[in-house]
Amino acid sequence: MDQNAVVMKGIILFKSQYGSTEQYAKWLSEDTGLKAIPLHEADVDQLKACEFIIIGSHIKVGHIKASDWIKTHWEWLKNKKLLLYSVSGSYANRKQQREALEMSLPEDILNDFEYYSLPGKLDKSKLNFWDRIIVFLGSKAIPDEEAKERMSHGFDYVDHKHLKRLVKVVRQLQKKTAKV
Ligand SMILES: Cc1cc2nc3c(=O)[nH]c(=O)nc-3n(C[C@H](O)[C@H](O)[C@H](O)COP(=O)(O)O)c2cc1C
Repeated sequence: MDQNAVVMKGIILFKSQYGSTEQYAKWLSEDTGLKAIPLHEADVDQLKACEFIIIGSHIKVGHIKASDWIKTHWEWLKNKKLLLYSVSGSYANRKQQREALEMSLPEDILNDFEYYSLPGKLDKSKLNFWDRIIVFLGSKAIPDEEAKERMSHGFDYVDHKHLKRLVKVVRQLQKKTAKV
C-alpha cells in the first residue's frame, strides 16, 4: 500500500460503464484533491483507513450499479461518512430516483448515505449490442414522452457545473476531518 494512501481522509470510488460517472469522479478529484478510483480496483485496506467515502454509480435498468459492492462491504462501510452520487437519464425525476434507490439498497443502508443525483449521457453509437436492445425496448415501453425522446435519440447533460453542491459538501468535510 502506498504511504500517501494511509493518511488519506477521503476517497472517490466510481462505477461507470460508458464514462460519464467516471468523468464526474475525475472532476471531483481535480476540485478536491481526493483520489478517484474505479470500484473494482479499490483496495479495501486502503479504504478502511478513510474517514469518508464518496461512491459514484451509473443507473441501469432502474438499478444503482454500485449497490452489490456496497452491500458486500457494508459491515465496515457503515462506520464511515458516506456520500453517493448517481448518474442517469432520469436524474431530475425524484420519484424514479427514489425507486432506483429503493430497488437497489435496503432502507437502513440508504439512510446512511447523503445522496446526489447527476445528469448523464447516452451516446447510442457507443452502446454494446445488448445495451442497444435494452435501450430500444426501453424507449418503446416508457410512457413518459420526454424520457422516450431521451432514450430514442440519446442525450448529453454531463457538465462540471452539476458538481457544485457536492464539491462544496466535500470541501466542508475535508476541513472538518483535517481538524481531527
Ligand atoms: C442499457 C441502459 C439502461 C439504462 N437504464 C437507465 C434507467 O433505468 N434509468 C435512467 O435514468 N437511466 C438509464 N440509463 C442511462 C444511463 O444511466 C446514463 O447513460 C449514464 O450516464 C450512464 O453512465 P456511465 O456513462 O457512467 O456508464 C440507461 C442506459 C443504458 C445504456
